Amino acid sequence: MIATEQEPKSLLSFDRERWKGWYESQPNEYDYWIEDIEGEIPPALNGTLFRNGPALFDINGQRLHHPFDGDGMVCAIAFDQGRVHFCNRFVRTEGYLKEQQSEKILYRGVFGTQKPGGLWANAFNIKLKNIANTHVVYWGGKLLAMWDAAEHYRLDPKTLETLGKDDRDGIWAKGDVSKTHYRIDPNCNQDGGAPCLVSFVIKLGILNCKITIHEQDPTGKLQRSYSHIVPGFAFMHDLVITPNYCIFVQNPMTFNPIPFFLGLKGAARCLKPKPNSPTRILVIPRHGKQPMQVLETQAGFTYHHVNAFEQGDRIYVDSIAYESEPLNKVEPGTDYRDIDFNTVPPGQLFRFTLNLADSTVQQQQLLERCCEFPAVHPHHVGRPYRYVYMGVAERPTGTAPLQAIAKLDLTTGEQQIWSAAPHGFVGEPIFVPHPDAKGEDHGWVLALVYDSSHHQSDVVILDGRDLNQGAIARLHLKHHIPYGLHGSWTPTVFN
Ligand SMILES: [Fe+2]
Repeated sequence: MIATEQEPKSLLSFDRERWKGWYESQPNEYDYWIEDIEGEIPPALNGTLFRNGPALFDINGQRLHHPFDGDGMVCAIAFDQGRVHFCNRFVRTEGYLKEQQSEKILYRGVFGTQKPGGLWANAFNIKLKNIANTHVVYWGGKLLAMWDAAEHYRLDPKTLETLGKDDRDGIWAKGDVSKTHYRIDPNCNQDGGAPCLVSFVIKLGILNCKITIHEQDPTGKLQRSYSHIVPGFAFMHDLVITPNYCIFVQNPMTFNPIPFFLGLKGAARCLKPKPNSPTRILVIPRHGKQPMQVLETQAGFTYHHVNAFEQGDRIYVDSIAYESEPLNKVEPGTDYRDIDFNTVPPGQLFRFTLNLADSTVQQQQLLERCCEFPAVHPHHVGRPYRYVYMGVAERPTGTAPLQAIAKLDLTTGEQQIWSAAPHGFVGEPIFVPHPDAKGEDHGWVLALVYDSSHHQSDVVILDGRDLNQGAIARLHLKHHIPYGLHGSWTPTVFN
């Protein structure tokens, strides 16, 4: 069933000039207790919300070509018995330090940023800057800032000081390309019910790729690793798990690096859809050395998944799917802030039902509205679940910036929407369970919201049971936080 849509508040959901403020660099670093608060912070909400995202969109006034090429900045928002502390720091990567010192762009960006100096300055210059801007997680006593193609950086979870590169205690082999996304199995049946962190790396080859999955216990100790050879080019950003399987969606893409080597394009712009090829879904057993099963479905593109669960011979995988890759729409020589949203396909929520007995896949659209950055209750990761929270566009059709947070009841199709439009723009929501939770949606939804009318950001707290009642609290920061990517919650209070 496709969820029932509500009417938009207004046909014009945002002002582009104000929206552009979300992409202004935030070069400053702060450390303070938040005092400008509307509403009441729930006293039972204790822990730290870490967020990561690009925050420098220019180097000394020279603008980057794509926001995803920006240096990573991590925010720590610590909730401590009704008080909230804010701290942000740039990840001091080697590239960040060198560019800040030289005050000019020294590296090409994956998404198309070029060094000044034209073709001669960029041809055969393939050294990428690790920008550590995509995700952040606290696991095994380490806070790690992560990017999709290089080592992680370890930070002090209290001060966010950069402590250095981290290779996950040497679990990666030479040539492995790290990936930022992971899943936490809340109740691993191979570890006596203890949680475990499931992550993956990919080694790229000419004709095939090798995918290796690592499972680490809560101390960070490696419990299991297993690898499979995947034919073709494997463009995979995320994974989902169930108690028995890891599932990957292999987008039908090819990668021709020659324009990148010649200095003509960023590496990501060398990705091209593979015509007339299906999307392949890789189902990898987490136990023993059983073979990987590969299922096929119609072509499409996926960055992020919501969740997966098993029922008998079937695995249900819920994902945000696009007709085609959505991020490489910024043509060379153009400003991404002038992008025509009509040229970008909307991300939409789909359910893929995998039948392992006959290797078939059924797909069903669950929501038409443009959406991204899904979140679920952490105890339901890999298990049957009922509620998903996502960033969504204000209008029910078409592609637009995320300005609202939706809660979708997958059992009834009921939708609740909390909207920040027309002046607000929302980042990824995070669901934090109430410590005495009495249901799957009993908890809080936390999100950073950019208030373009004041050019400042708010930390917004919503009641996970009822988004319609409005925000429980809005915590006004003293400054703006640019468009961000991913974050995570830990019940440990770092302030
Ligand atoms: Fe991602």
